[in-house]
Amino acid sequence: QDTTRLKQYEGHELAAKLYHYLLNNTTHGQTAKSYLRSRGMSDRLIDEFSIGFAPDSWDTLTRFLQSREFDLELMEKGGLLSAKNDGSGYVDRFRNRIMFPIRNREGKVCGFGGRVMDDSQPKYLNSPESSLFAKSRIFYNFHASRPVIRKTRRAVLFEGYMDVIKAWSAGVKNGLATMGTALTEEHAAILQRHIDEAVFCYDGDDAGQAAILKSIPILEKAGLKVSVAMLPKGMDPDECITKLGPERFIRETMEHPVSATKFKLLYLRKDHTLLGEENRKNYVMDALGIVAQLESSTEREVYLKELSREFEISLESLKADCHRLVTEQQ
Ligand code: CTP
Ligand code: MN
Ligand code: MN
Ligand code: MN
Ligand code: MN
Repeated sequence: QDTTRLKQYEGHELAAKLYHYLLNNTTHGQTAKSYLRSRGMSDRLIDEFSIGFAPDSWDTLTRFLQSREFDLELMEKGGLLSAKNDGSGYVDRFRNRIMFPIRNREGKVCGFGGRVMDDSQPKYLNSPESSLFAKSRIFYNFHASRPVIRKTRRAVLFEGYMDVIKAWSAGVKNGLATMGTALTEEHAAILQRHIDEAVFCYDGDDAGQAAILKSIPILEKAGLKVSVAMLPKGMDPDECITKLGPERFIRETMEHPVSATKFKLLYLRKDHTLLGEENRKNYVMDALGIVAQLESSTEREVYLKELSREFEISLESLKADCHRLVTEQQ
């Protein structure tokens, strides 16, 4: 219902304002502020992304909403509060966490990601699925990046909040995040309406690279060109920007994305030792399987030439084997 949803959006907007206020104006907020500082977040970024702090309390937001005569049951359904176990009322869902408001495509706050400031679990607590917040359809930062996305027809995909924010401060104004969840076909359908090319900039760890591999076909099926900005091994974009500085991050990572095919070929090396004839041959055959998926024979030739050079196999042999695979696939 419309009035229900309006109220829930209003609750989210107020909660975001409250958390932001508490971060900037309370003693407990100072601890959170120092944490953010230690991670390289300026006041300006904190403001731009409306970052806040949910205090270590059961009823700060609950009482705030109650005093403004919000229906608490509705706020619980919207994901801001939790119902008490004994059914006697409601408590704050987010406690003692750094709060990242998540806006929908219209710019309305529809959910939160809340981060702990130590090593406790879960590291991030996100809003539950609700009629406002559907993870399979929401991108973090879509609203703010929309103008640049529209102009460039290109978006950079990150894993998380910090990555988007740090990259933004480094000049990447078309960054989005899927917030840990797998990229879905619904995500792809939304992107397809706004961009021609997606650049993955996921974490440089195994999980991040595996997620890219799984997501490439989903985007390609939606007709998007896909490329991958490779990070130093084990680093995520946030760490990379902190360690290398924004200029080097842009110059060494963002400005030289590799093609989806190149990424697959690099990824393939994880499962192959390239020592010995047998292993090298196996790698080449698997690589041919990847190259054979390309529609353009010109494109195929680019990769075949590289393989030919590296493995000292004639281009003719590689072309013949690749061609056989192409016809087998049809
Ligand atoms: N995530 C989540 N719940 C978790 C862990 C992760 O929702 N328990 C989501 C968050 O959106 C997070 C993203 O997945 O930003 C990527 O996860 P990860 O790489 O583990 O976190 P970082 O973004 O690197 O977080 P930080 O730098 O704050 O440690
Ligand atoms: Mn402010
Ligand atoms: Mn990760
Ligand atoms: Mn990460
Ligand atoms: Mn990180």
